Amino acid sequence: MEKMKLFLSTLMSAISTCTLYSKEHASVDELTQKAFSLLGEMLQQSDSVELMIVGDDLIANKTPLRDVGMQGVNLVKRFKKKGLSRVDFIKGITFSELRLFVTNISAVSEDIRTYAHIKTGVVDVRTGGLKIDADFALDLESLSGFTSGQVGMVKDVYQGITPFKKLNIAGLEEIVVHFIITFRREANILKLISPVKSFSEYTYTHATNVAVLSMFQAEVLGVREDILRDIGIAALLHDVGKLFISKEVLEKKDALNQKEWDEIRMHPIYGAQYLAKLEGIPHLASIVAIEHHRRFDGKGYPKSALNNKTQHLCSQTVAIADFFDALRSRRPYRRALEIKEVLSLMKRETGGAFNPVLVDNFIRAMHSALSE
Ligand SMILES: [Fe+2]
Ligand SMILES: [Fe+2]
Repeated sequence: MEKMKLFLSTLMSAISTCTLYSKEHASVDELTQKAFSLLGEMLQQSDSVELMIVGDDLIANKTPLRDVGMQGVNLVKRFKKKGLSRVDFIKGITFSELRLFVTNISAVSEDIRTYAHIKTGVVDVRTGGLKIDADFALDLESLSGFTSGQVGMVKDVYQGITPFKKLNIAGLEEIVVHFIITFRREANILKLISPVKSFSEYTYTHATNVAVLSMFQAEVLGVREDILRDIGIAALLHDVGKLFISKEVLEKKDALNQKEWDEIRMHPIYGAQYLAKLEGIPHLASIVAIEHHRRFDGKGYPKSALNNKTQHLCSQTVAIADFFDALRSRRPYRRALEIKEVLSLMKRETGGAFNPVLVDNFIRAMHSALSE
């Protein structure tokens, strides 16, 4: 990833030099040459280098990049200004193609050209065209609304989780694809939220609901299909660390003492540690696990995971879904809250616990669902 970051910052330096001076300036050639050789090294390991912009985040080869530095931030801004949400550099790219791309990006008024080895794209909002792995063998007609069967699928995957057993990753992907198909068919998202039937079902129902609500927000924001799936998987697993906490504490009906709270507050760390070790799980899942109790204002827990970095956009999305589902569910120690009550509590946390843009997006989407 260090090479990727260096490539991105060099590319941005070339672009800004081109904007500030002229496209003929000698250092544009020099910087582009440096970026080109870094790109060449990366393209020896794979057939393409894929960049994607989601919100203000840069995702390189499906991994969200943190700490991209000033030049990285500027590159995201520049791509957005150009309407680009995706740039793929394909093996076989020549220096002159990259050089042309640099000139093209640096000229504010110029449209994006087409290149043989650079594929560019805008966010494909609700393409409707789902790529479903043939192995999933979905019976599309039988899907209408969420059934206890779907919570059951989540339960099966969750019950397979122990520190010694492999997680059923294909199972998770299947669940997430089911969700996407279902919520694209059902305009009223609230019909898809499952009520908690029994105490022991809470974990699975909550995981299901948080995944649906997180993906729903991302869909409204126009996030790409593959990232939508990653968010779904990350949301399904956000509380996975709770499975490593003693049942007595987790299911205690009376108020928790300090020691018990401290134990509960370890679940983001346990979850992230567990997920980071698993192969095939999107990196985003560990990020969301560790960050979902962080707040937009930088507070929250676990204290050891709080740092100067901003909370990932996906963790912010999951945090909103988590809050909504937790409050609207009946728990042993309190009643379920009305949707409107939850939304007004959420509004109060705008800019505190939650990202104002996401709260706005969520409330607007909920209101249109409520008025259906
Ligand atoms: Fe949690
Ligand atoms: Fe949760």
